Amino acid sequence: MRRIILGCVILVSMTWAKSVPVANDALYQKECASCHFGYQPALLNASGWQKVMGNLQDHFGTDASLSQKEHDAILTYVTQNAGNSKLTQGNTTMRISQSPYFIKEHRRIPERLIDQPEVKSLSQCAACHTKAEQGDYSERNIVIPNYGRWE
Ligand code: HEC
Ligand code: HEC
Repeated sequence: MRRIILGCVILVSMTWAKSVPVANDALYQKECASCHFGYQPALLNASGWQKVMGNLQDHFGTDASLSQKEHDAILTYVTQNAGNSKLTQGNTTMRISQSPYFIKEHRRIPERLIDQPEVKSLSQCAACHTKAEQGDYSERNIVIPNYGRWE
């Protein structure tokens, strides 16, 4: 019995990152998914979200500021649903794409496939993860533009 439980725990922790809960908050979708794909809150830890939300006037070179009311509502939504997994572990930045696990998972992708106009940067999750919108990051749903499936 104990072995079965342990097996389940290991299985769950191995498959965790392949899928995260969808970003289903209407205000978040409206305000935070216009310039880029709406990153699911579970992709970043709570301290990362606090950093992002703490400096929206100077948001990666753009102004993404909100009214105090909207700011507070979105801050609550993202921090309450923040990630606590190997994808978010050890990430002291406000970028999902700077987490140690993220860097390790993406280090084999050639620069030219990232720099190309169809992708632009590793921040554009949905350019390669065809089911990113649904929170599915599994390998079988990765298609890199001008390259194809990643296997
Ligand atoms: C005016 C456009 C704009 C709006 C609105 C906007 N962003 Fe961004 N965001 C950007 C740009 C530009 C980047 C940098 C992308 C890059 O480096 O390719 C970025 C990057 C990010 C990143 C880091 C992605 C990574 O590389 O890991 C996070 C997290 C983020 N935004 C969250 C938010 C949240 C939360 C909101 C809503 C409060 C929001 N953004 C609204 C333009 C915007
Ligand atoms: C240029 C295409 C590309 C972009 C853009 C991209 N990824 Fe990936 N991603 C990949 C590839 C390829 C892999 C598989 C790497 C491997 O296993 O060799 C991967 C792996 C992953 C994994 C690990 C899946 C697992 O099996 O556990 C996660 C999670 C992930 N990506 C999330 C993201 C997120 C979130 C973003 C946006 C912030 C993003 N990726 C942007 C191509 C991309």
